[in-house]
Amino acid sequence: MFFSGAVVAADSPTATTKEAPKDLILKGDAKCTGCHDEADDSKPTMLDLRPSVLAIGKTKHGTVADSRTPTCTDCHGESEKHVKHKGSDKPPKADRTFGKNTKTSPEARNDACLSCHQGGKHMNWQSSVHASRDVTCTACHKVHAAHDKVREKATQAEVCFTCHKEQRAQVNRPSHHPIIEGKMTCTSCHDLHGDNPKSLTKASLNDTCYTCHMEKRGPFVHNHQPVTEDCGICHNPHGTTIANLLKSRPPFLCQECHNHDSHPGQVAGLPTAATTGSSTLGTVGRGCLNCHTNIHGGNSTQNSATAGRFRR
Ligand code: HEC
Ligand code: HEC
Ligand code: HEC
Ligand code: HEC
Ligand code: HEC
Ligand code: HEC
Ligand code: HEC
Ligand code: HEC
Ligand code: HEC
Ligand code: HEC
Repeated sequence: MFFSGAVVAADSPTATTKEAPKDLILKGDAKCTGCHDEADDSKPTMLDLRPSVLAIGKTKHGTVADSRTPTCTDCHGESEKHVKHKGSDKPPKADRTFGKNTKTSPEARNDACLSCHQGGKHMNWQSSVHASRDVTCTACHKVHAAHDKVREKATQAEVCFTCHKEQRAQVNRPSHHPIIEGKMTCTSCHDLHGDNPKSLTKASLNDTCYTCHMEKRGPFVHNHQPVTEDCGICHNPHGTTIANLLKSRPPFLCQECHNHDSHPGQVAGLPTAATTGSSTLGTVGRGCLNCHTNIHGGNSTQNSATAGRFRR
C-alpha cells in the first residue's frame, strides 16, 4: 500500500526534479534508490546493471509505519564507496552482498538479520546444524521478493530440495506424508531456527510424531519397546515404497529383532522351528500383523497369557 502510494507521490506534479531524491519504499532509502529505482523486473531499463529491488516494499520489511523495520543500509551496510562512485564502470561492491558469488562471509550475512531477529524463536539458531554448515538465512529466505517461497506452503519444499535431493526422492515414493499434495510441509515436523536433534519441532523424534498421532503415545498396558523408543526404527517419516511408511516389509521388519525360529509352536498354523522359511509366514496373509494387530501397544486387560502379545 505504501509502495504504490510512494510511486504515485514521486510521479505527482508536486515532486520536482530539483528536489533531493525522495524515499521510495523504505525510510532513508533515497541514498540507494536514486540509482536502484526500477519497480519491476519486467520493465527493462537502460541501467540494466542495477537489479530491481523495490518489491521489498511489498513485504513486512516495507512497513514504513513500523519503526522497527530496516532500511537498505541495515542489511547492506553504509556502502560509502559504492554510493559515491561516479562513472559508467562497475562501482565497488556494497559493504554486504548476498548473491551467489558474494565475498561477504556467512557470519556477516547472518549478522545483518540477527541484529533484529535475535531471541525468541531464533534463540538457538547459532547452534543449529544449518548455521554450523554455513547455510545462511538468505539461503532460504528471499527478502526482496513479494513472496518468500520458503514461508509459503505450496513452494516451501522446492527451496529445501535445492539442497536436499534425497528427501525429494523419498517424499515422491508411494507411501509418504502428504507433502507433495500440499497438506503438510517440511516445517510440520522441522523447526529450522532451533537446535533440536535433526532440527525437529520437538525435543525428541517421538514427541514430534505425537503432535499429530496422539493415539500412539500411550502409555499402554502392554508397550512395544521399539515404539516407545523411536518411531524411526520402523518408519521413515519422508517416504518409502512400502505401505505405512515402513522401512521394510513384515515379517522381515519384525525379524530384524524377533528370531523366526523361536515363535511359539502351539498356535495352529504358525510356523515352528521346523518351518523356518519366512515365505511360510508370508502365506499367512500379512504375516505377523494378522495376529499381532496392536503393534504400537495394546490395552487389553484380558487375563490371558496372550494379551501382552499385542493381540486384541
Ligand atoms: C551511483 C549509483 C548507485 C547508488 C547510489 C547505489 N548503487 Fe548499488 N549498484 C549500482 C550499480 C551500477 C550496480 C551493479 C554493479 C555490479 O553489477 O557489480 C549496483 C549493485 C548493487 C548491489 C548488488 C551487488 C552484487 O554483486 O550482488 C547491491 C547489493 C547494491 N548495489 C546495494 C546498494 C545499496 C544498499 C545502496 C545504498 C546504500 C546502493 N546500492 C546505492 C549503482 C548504485
Ligand atoms: C532485510 C535486509 C535487506 C534490506 C532491508 C534490503 N536488502 Fe537488498 N538484499 C538483501 C538480500 C538478502 C539480497 C539477496 C537477494 C534476496 O534475498 O532477495 C539482496 C539483494 C540486493 C540487490 C541485488 C539484487 C539481485 O537480484 O542481485 C540489490 C541491488 C539490493 N539488494 C539493494 C537494496 C536496496 C536499494 C535496498 C533498500 C531499498 C535494499 N537492498 C534493502 C537484503 C536486504
Ligand atoms: C532493522 C531490523 C531488521 C533487520 C536488519 C531484518 N529484519 Fe526481518 N523483520 C523485521 C521486522 C520489524 C519484521 C516484522 C515483524 C513482525 O511483523 O512481527 C521482520 C520480518 C521478517 C520476516 C517475516 C516476514 C513476514 O511476512 O512475516 C522474515 C522472514 C524476515 N524478517 C527475515 C529477515 C532476514 C532474512 C533478514 C536479513 C537478510 C532480516 N529479516 C533483517 C526487522 C528486521
Ligand atoms: C533452512 C531454511 C531456513 C533458514 C536457514 C532460515 N529460515 Fe527463517 N524460516 C524458514 C521457514 C521454512 C519459515 C516458516 C516457518 C513456518 O512456516 O513455520 C521461516 C520463518 C522465519 C521468520 C518468520 C516467522 C518466525 O518464525 O519468526 C523469520 C523472521 C525468519 N524465518 C528469520 C530467519 C533468520 C533471521 C534466519 C537466519 C538467522 C533464518 N530465518 C534462517 C526457513 C529458514
Ligand atoms: C512427518 C515429519 C517430517 C516431515 C513432514 C519432514 N521430515 Fe525431515 N525428518 C523427520 C525426522 C523424524 C527426521 C529424523 C530421522 C532420523 O533421525 O531417522 C528427519 C530428518 C531429516 C533430515 C536429516 C536426514 C539425516 O539423515 O540426517 C533432512 C535433511 C530432512 N529431514 C529434510 C526434510 C525436508 C526437506 C522435508 C520436506 C520436504 C522434511 N524433512 C519433512 C521428520 C519429518
Ligand atoms: C543451501 C542449502 C540448504 C537449504 C536451502 C536447506 N538445507 Fe537443510 N541442510 C543443509 C546442510 C548442508 C545440512 C547439513 C547436513 C547435510 O549435509 O545434509 C542440512 C541439514 C538439514 C537437516 C538435518 C539437521 C540435523 O540436525 O541433522 C534438516 C532436518 C534440514 N536440513 C532440513 C531442511 C529444510 C526443511 C529445508 C527447507 C525449509 C532446508 N533444510 C533447506 C543445507 C540446506
Ligand atoms: C503435522 C502432523 C503430523 C506429524 C507431526 C506426523 N504425521 Fe504422520 N501423518 C500425518 C498425516 C496428515 C497423515 C496422512 C493421513 C491420511 O492420509 O489419512 C500421516 C500418516 C502417517 C502414517 C501412515 C502413512 C500411510 O502410508 O498411510 C505413518 C506411518 C505416519 N504418519 C507416521 C508418522 C511418524 C513416524 C511421525 C513422526 C516422525 C509422524 N507421522 C508425524 C500427519 C502427521
Ligand atoms: C516395531 C515397528 C514399529 C514402530 C517402532 C512404530 N510403528 Fe507405526 N506401524 C508399524 C506397522 C507394522 C504398521 C502397519 C500396521 C498395520 O498394517 O496394521 C504401522 C502403522 C502406523 C501408522 C498408520 C496406521 C495406524 O495405525 O494409524 C501410524 C500413524 C504409525 N504407525 C505411527 C507410528 C508412530 C507415531 C510411532 C512411534 C510412536 C510408530 N508408528 C512406531 C510398525 C511400527
Ligand atoms: C527394533 C527391534 C524390534 C522390532 C523391529 C520389532 N520388535 Fe517386537 N519386540 C521388541 C522388543 C525389544 C520386545 C520386548 C521383548 C521382551 O519384553 O522380552 C518386543 C516384543 C514383542 C512382542 C511381545 C513379546 C512378549 O513377550 O510379550 C511381540 C508379539 C512383538 N514384539 C511382535 C513384533 C512384530 C509383529 C514386529 C514387526 C511388525 C516387531 N515385533 C518388530 C523388539 C522389536
Ligand atoms: C496366527 C497368528 C500369529 C501369527 C501370524 C504370528 N504370531 Fe506371534 N504370536 C501369536 C500368539 C497367539 C502368541 C502368544 C503365544 C503364547 O503366549 O504362548 C505369539 C507370540 C509372539 C511373540 C512372543 C514370543 C515369546 O517367546 O514370548 C513374538 C515375539 C511374536 N509372536 C512375534 C511374531 C512375529 C515376528 C511374527 C511374524 C513373523 C508372528 N509373531 C506371527 C500369534 C501369531
